[in-house]
Amino acid sequence: MTEEERYQRLLERYEELATLAGSLAHEINNPLSVIRMNVDLLAEDLAETHTPENQRALTKLEIVHNQCSRLENLLSSFMRFAKVKPLDLRPGSLNQIVEQVVRLYDPLCAQDNIEVVRYLDPDLPSIRLDAETLHAALLNLVKNALEAMESGGQLTVRTYPTPTGVALDLIDTGEGMDNETALNMFKEFYTTKQGGSGLGLPTARKVIEAHDGRIAVQSEVGRGTKITLEFPAPARLS
Ligand SMILES: Nc1ncnc2c1ncn2[C@@H]1O[C@H](COP(=O)(O)OP(=O)(O)O)[C@@H](O)[C@H]1O
Ligand SMILES: [Mg+2]
Repeated sequence: MTEEERYQRLLERYEELATLAGSLAHEINNPLSVIRMNVDLLAEDLAETHTPENQRALTKLEIVHNQCSRLENLLSSFMRFAKVKPLDLRPGSLNQIVEQVVRLYDPLCAQDNIEVVRYLDPDLPSIRLDAETLHAALLNLVKNALEAMESGGQLTVRTYPTPTGVALDLIDTGEGMDNETALNMFKEFYTTKQGGSGLGLPTARKVIEAHDGRIAVQSEVGRGTKITLEFPAPARLS
């Protein structure tokens, strides 16, 4: 078997497993919704009579409700991740997608004392991209940056040409990552957050690599994190 064939076979097995995992997630999701719905109905019934016993039962139901919601979120992130959707790559503007994503968070940033600094090169060459998928991937990265700056900070987004294409830096002045996090951040389900899915970075990487791009992370505890994405720009598009 040639290297190419081995790779192809690996890829097929991977896609098979991803599909399987996706259907499993679906199968779990349905009964889970039924459980949560009935827990909510039960809570409504109990809330009608104010007794100490009912109060205690309600507190426990709230825990069940919250854990169900957490599982539901996890499953929907996972289903998005496992979906092996072929990309629709067309010439497009990275600046435009970055701007759209960042704009979504402008109100939240204003509220959380986060200053957003944009340096988007107006002469940036076009790249081949799938707008919707790349948008979702960048959203994960910006969300992580903001979540790392709970007590305010600065988010710098910068695009610039490189010798082979274009690049995007996302720099936050947040809490940064320790060594263990830096080693595991791209592993599915690895999270340091209460209620985190641990799928943001692995999904983003999968999407960026499907664009022939690369993602690099530099981080220092207490100082912040810099994420750099690089994409090739086909000569005929620039
Ligand atoms: N910008 C960042 N600053 C600090 N830590 C980060 C940043 N981005 C990612 N991380 C770390 O990587 C982990 C995995 O991120 P991710 O895959 O998006 O999952 P989640 O956000 O659900 O935890 C996070 O839990 C966090 O510890
Ligand atoms: Mg995340």
